[in-house]
Amino acid sequence: MDKKLKFAQEQVSIYKQEQLLRFYNELDEKQKSDLLNQIASIDFDYMKKLYNQTQIKNELKTMKIDSVDYIDKYNLPSEKLNEYKKIGTEAISSGKLAVITMAGGQGTRLGHSGPKGTFDIGLDSGKSIFEILCDKFKEVQEKYGITMPWYIMTSKANNYETVDFFERNSYFNYPKNKINFFIQNEIPALDFNGKILLEEKAKISEAPNGDGGIFNALHKFNVIQDIKNQNIEWVFIGGVDNILAQIADPILIGAAIVENKEIACKTVEKAYEQEKVGVFCKKNGKIGIIEYTERTDEIASKRDKDGKFLYGDTNILCNLFNIKVLEKAKEVKLPQHTVIKKINYVDEFGKKIYPEEPNAYKFENFFFDVFEMIDDIILVRGKREEEFAPIKNAKGVDSPETAKKLYMDYFLNRLA
Ligand code: UD1
Repeated sequence: MDKKLKFAQEQVSIYKQEQLLRFYNELDEKQKSDLLNQIASIDFDYMKKLYNQTQIKNELKTMKIDSVDYIDKYNLPSEKLNEYKKIGTEAISSGKLAVITMAGGQGTRLGHSGPKGTFDIGLDSGKSIFEILCDKFKEVQEKYGITMPWYIMTSKANNYETVDFFERNSYFNYPKNKINFFIQNEIPALDFNGKILLEEKAKISEAPNGDGGIFNALHKFNVIQDIKNQNIEWVFIGGVDNILAQIADPILIGAAIVENKEIACKTVEKAYEQEKVGVFCKKNGKIGIIEYTERTDEIASKRDKDGKFLYGDTNILCNLFNIKVLEKAKEVKLPQHTVIKKINYVDEFGKKIYPEEPNAYKFENFFFDVFEMIDDIILVRGKREEEFAPIKNAKGVDSPETAKKLYMDYFLNRLA
């Protein structure tokens, strides 16, 4: 313990983070040990670099941004459509597809205290988001006779509650051995002066490292190997909060296989100028995404000659990867993005503060930055009402209420 304490004291002094040990003497032995372990796990030099990076202005300005081509699922020549469908169906029914759901986010905007997937969106059935997603696996089971493996990415903060939720709900009667969990990393939050925040006197404030944290986590938890052992070639990766996500669309898979692409991304047309979504584009000639937090008004509003958004292909987090890409992504070092957030913390007097305004930098890897490292990507545009019902906010746009309506309309249309 003395050695650990000495090391921690040296680190916080070198990097001017003394606040981390401010309450050390008030802590019990277990708390002391936990805090010292947390300090030992932090790469202070890297945190310093990240803080310096927060002062750098938007790099988009130095990039050549162009619009991007897509194929329209509903405007394909019937021969092509049938070919995609046939090849995609073969791939699914021969067990070549696995699904990963990224559910490590904090879901702060929704204001639900548990993991987002446990949220009940208000259907008469009382189904949670996880159960709605699980229904899609059961549909595939029925339609193709295949029980697809499901991998769910959680974070340290929500892993226990997520797994416990599945246990309590008997894995929604899907085979338990087909549902696996893996945990993404966390990274400390900084205040605007570069000081690491304390969440409690004995706990450093850390948050999941963004959905791009998936690539390291997949390898750390041997998920790729596990998938390969089942002779699976394609992996659909989606977010937890789109209850219309089509996790096994034969056309998306068929398009990737027939056109010999490593990644196929489902998109829908952007609904309105300031919609909080990332949009596809070309960055210096390579397919990438401009996130809504980083775009300029010009990018958001620019229209083509037909009056449509020039950057109108929305990232709905419905992406299909060839397993080889995920293997390669192990080596990938994604850039860190800085997000400004409200983060609760303990002040210098030991008082817990719940800020009303954003007060801290959080650092995230963005999942889609991996696209810029891949040459063969195809975009398949679908219909919004069939593909995208996001749950982000407690009320208003992209809320449980709007998602529920989209979800119910979708099923009514299918029955009609
Ligand atoms: C995300 C996309 C955005 C897209 C929008 C569509 C990114 C960086 N942005 O934005 O381009 O248009 O969804 O709905 O992907 N997650 C984790 N771990 C984390 C952070 C998030 O697993 O550390 C998961 C969440 O649980 C969720 C998904 O990633 O399933 C999206 O997270 P969220 O932070 O809500 O993304 P948006 O800001 O809405």
